[in-house]
Amino acid sequence: MIIIPGPASQKLGQKIAALLGARVVSVEFKAFPDGESYIRLGGEVEGEDAVIVQTTSPPQDTHFVQLFLMADAARDLGAKTVTAVVPYFAYARQDKRFLSGEAFSVKTIMKLLEACGINRIVTVNAHNPKVLKSFRVPVKDVSAVTLLAEHFKKRGFDKAFSISVGKKALAVAKEADNILKGGYGYVSTSRDRVTGKVEIEKKSLPVKNRDVIVFDDIISSGGTMAKAVKAAKDQGARRVYAACVHALLAEGAEEKILGGGADGIVGTDCIPSSVSKVSVAPLITEALRKIA
Ligand code: R5P
Repeated sequence: MIIIPGPASQKLGQKIAALLGARVVSVEFKAFPDGESYIRLGGEVEGEDAVIVQTTSPPQDTHFVQLFLMADAARDLGAKTVTAVVPYFAYARQDKRFLSGEAFSVKTIMKLLEACGINRIVTVNAHNPKVLKSFRVPVKDVSAVTLLAEHFKKRGFDKAFSISVGKKALAVAKEADNILKGGYGYVSTSRDRVTGKVEIEKKSLPVKNRDVIVFDDIISSGGTMAKAVKAAKDQGARRVYAACVHALLAEGAEEKILGGGADGIVGTDCIPSSVSKVSVAPLITEALRKIA
């Protein structure tokens, strides 16, 4: 197995290669003056099981095009198989046509990845793994929630109350509670599809004088997390932390969440950011070992 750390996941790709003891094929990349992406693989891939590590955080479109170019080039140069590790899989939230005439974006992206010769995909807490798995390229989705919970446990937050955002995501709070063992629950939010404004349903939570960790897969604008944190604070929680797998942190999200009363934000290196305190490298390494 060889590892190709893509432009968007250089450090993570290197970490995974080190844990696997695998050879690294570097990638030379640049943007032409008109914005087009240039990719050149810097080593032999012929006859190899190639693993490209490329997250698709902003600029999502560029990062996807770079992934298409790397995969197709690896195939052209004789790679036996191509696995795409896409820690954050962009467009996954457009997992159906919500309004008539809309693109079913995740389907289009999956078709393009298949056309570029990708044999399998590994994702971390993809937004809707069920839909991702409904296309032809096999998808393995792994969860980083246990790693996030372990991060808090090591820092004295065992017995913290775990909250997921949405009843459907209760399994996330339950996974965290397997580590923190302080009980778990959920809050429900809804978003106006036109204005983007987030509202939270009134719900009583057993958090008075308790430490609380709110877990979500994604923090984008921060609106959802800020409301969830505030709900816990308003009900008397002591320390409240925001934990997420994919910290997109758009539009002043950090300020919004800290303004909602959070004591801190913890994310992973699925998307490199100022809050990437937990590495998913061991998790992805384990998934790749199982695939090999
Ligand atoms: C929604 O389904 C996700 O799990 C997140 O709650 C959402 O993407 C967060 O978005 P924002 O940070 O913009 O509120």
